[in-house]
Amino acid sequence: MKATSDERVSVAAGAPALAARLAALENRDTLRLAMCGSVDDGKSTLLGRLLAEAGMIPDDRLAQMIRDSKTHGTQGGKPDYSLLLDGLEAEREQGITIDVAWRYFGTDKRAFIVADCPGHAQYTRNMASGASNAELGIVLVDARAGVQTQTRRHTAILAMFGVQHVLFAVNKLDLIDYNHARYHAIEQECVKLGHDLGIGHADSIPVSAINADNLVAPSPNTPWYTGKPLLEYLEAVQVERKVDAAFALPVQWVNRPDHGFRGYAGTIAGGRVAPGNEVVVLPSGRLSRVVRVVGGDADLENAEAGQSVTLTLADQIDVARGDVIADPSLPPDVAAQFACHLLWLDDTALLSGRRYLMKLATRVIGAQVTEIKHRIDPDTQAHLAATRLVANEIGYCNLSLDSEIAYRPYREDRRLGGFILVDRETNATVGCGTLDFGLRRDRNVHWQQLDVDRVARARIKGQTPRCLWFTGLSGAGKSTIANLVERRLLADGFHTILLDGDNVRHGLNRDLGFTDADRVENIRRVAEVAKLMMDAGLIVLVSFISPFRAERQMARDLIGEGGFMEVFVDAPLTVCEGRDVKGLYAKARAGKISNFTGIGSPYEAPESAEIHLHSDQEPAADSASRVVKLLVS
Ligand code: ADX
Repeated sequence: MKATSDERVSVAAGAPALAARLAALENRDTLRLAMCGSVDDGKSTLLGRLLAEAGMIPDDRLAQMIRDSKTHGTQGGKPDYSLLLDGLEAEREQGITIDVAWRYFGTDKRAFIVADCPGHAQYTRNMASGASNAELGIVLVDARAGVQTQTRRHTAILAMFGVQHVLFAVNKLDLIDYNHARYHAIEQECVKLGHDLGIGHADSIPVSAINADNLVAPSPNTPWYTGKPLLEYLEAVQVERKVDAAFALPVQWVNRPDHGFRGYAGTIAGGRVAPGNEVVVLPSGRLSRVVRVVGGDADLENAEAGQSVTLTLADQIDVARGDVIADPSLPPDVAAQFACHLLWLDDTALLSGRRYLMKLATRVIGAQVTEIKHRIDPDTQAHLAATRLVANEIGYCNLSLDSEIAYRPYREDRRLGGFILVDRETNATVGCGTLDFGLRRDRNVHWQQLDVDRVARARIKGQTPRCLWFTGLSGAGKSTIANLVERRLLADGFHTILLDGDNVRHGLNRDLGFTDADRVENIRRVAEVAKLMMDAGLIVLVSFISPFRAERQMARDLIGEGGFMEVFVDAPLTVCEGRDVKGLYAKARAGKISNFTGIGSPYEAPESAEIHLHSDQEPAADSASRVVKLLVS
């Protein structure tokens, strides 16, 4: 299941906002929980039983549950408390929990908002969403199995999203005969895990959801357990709450109904605002003053975090969607490059150098991971070298954006420090992450203005720089045709350069192989070189397999629409293989080359190349003529 960005995992608060405000109105303290566990750990049963034991389920619902348990329960006709949680239909059908269900319950001491996170690995996005909203995580552990990879993964995700309290609920204690020694061993492992992951407070509790042991009352089955029962623990646990951060409003929308009104609408991410307050607009850094704070139809005297408002400012300054209006005495930082933690969610691996869209607060911006510093082994927490991240892996990366944004480190501010990455083609959410700190190097390296520019250099050559990008399978005829095109252009007095994959791989790119990650880097470099050569005023011919659509698009974006012409040199794989000029297809078939394009590695054909040549149907000279004609026209 791929979520589109619209139903995306929200890494900042969202869903539980209403419940939190209701609790606030009642003046009750509210604790946000994320409850996680693997499919069979008994998460729904635990929550259902807890609610029932605490007297929070009306009698008619209990009666209904007992009836339903006979027909579609999982306890052989005995009461199935998981049925009390009215999850999604699909969840029942498949017998698994598939979405975050936000559940709200309370006692006279405290209100609770529970993100009921699904256990299956493919729903990690939901787990991340729950974690990014939580103050305390409950991780279920099956007492028979002990700490599993999934337990470690869930705890690592809680840690990554800044959850500083984790309670390991060691469940199904009845199935290990309430064995203290066994429980104690699991407890130690859990506490160590929490500690290794940098979680400030890791506790554990022995329970049996089926038998209600230690849920609301101490169980006679565990006389050796001296801690609090679960509900009492949840009522008492003290989580550190940051005092409201300084005022910040990520601009969702610029409201200009007529010339007289220009308002900036959004939800306040932190602090308070009132008419007359000085503000700074980021990333531009321009200063102004709030004139009106409008909420609904009325002007407000002030507004605070969580409220949706429209601000008007005293000065006519440029404010766009995605900007942040903030308190100038404690403004968010501004940067374009970051060190971040990234949790990868997509079946297609993260490749450094590939371009994605980043969404942070209301900002949407082009982004690429420039380096995967390491990935974290879920079993040992060891930092391992990595060139890619596959689904459910967490990595520590450098992230580079197309331009500066306003942000705060995630540990200081979840809303201005949490982000998601979106695939540019499919719009699927492919990763989510937390900003650690901004990298200053982009601020220390400035762009040097030069007097002689591309236009001047091209003018004395009497031509307009262009990039002809030849793509196609090995043996399709790219280099042959590109070579002919260059000879024609030279004969007609044009200044050219031909960058050929094989040749560039002997020099500049000699450190790269043929993994997906290396091919992405191969194309990134040659696209940058092509751009420099265009700056020199040249007509550049690039002849690289360039098998991935995303990187050809990256080259197109870098070079600019008008200057880029994609030339698809097309021939069926069987034809290319039949030609096998370099004998490489034979080697690939013999298993001697593993990632050979068309055999062990995919080729994604262009969908709208400027020119599509069929090298199996037309002599190379004719193809070359057509390319020259298109270029000159
Ligand atoms: S690309 O995929 O990264 O764009 P590039 O055009 O630079 O490839 O290099 C392709 C050339 O490298 C091929 O023409 C072929 O001669 C050689 N080669 C060696 N190994 C491979 C491989 N595994 N896949 C494709 N080409 C390979």
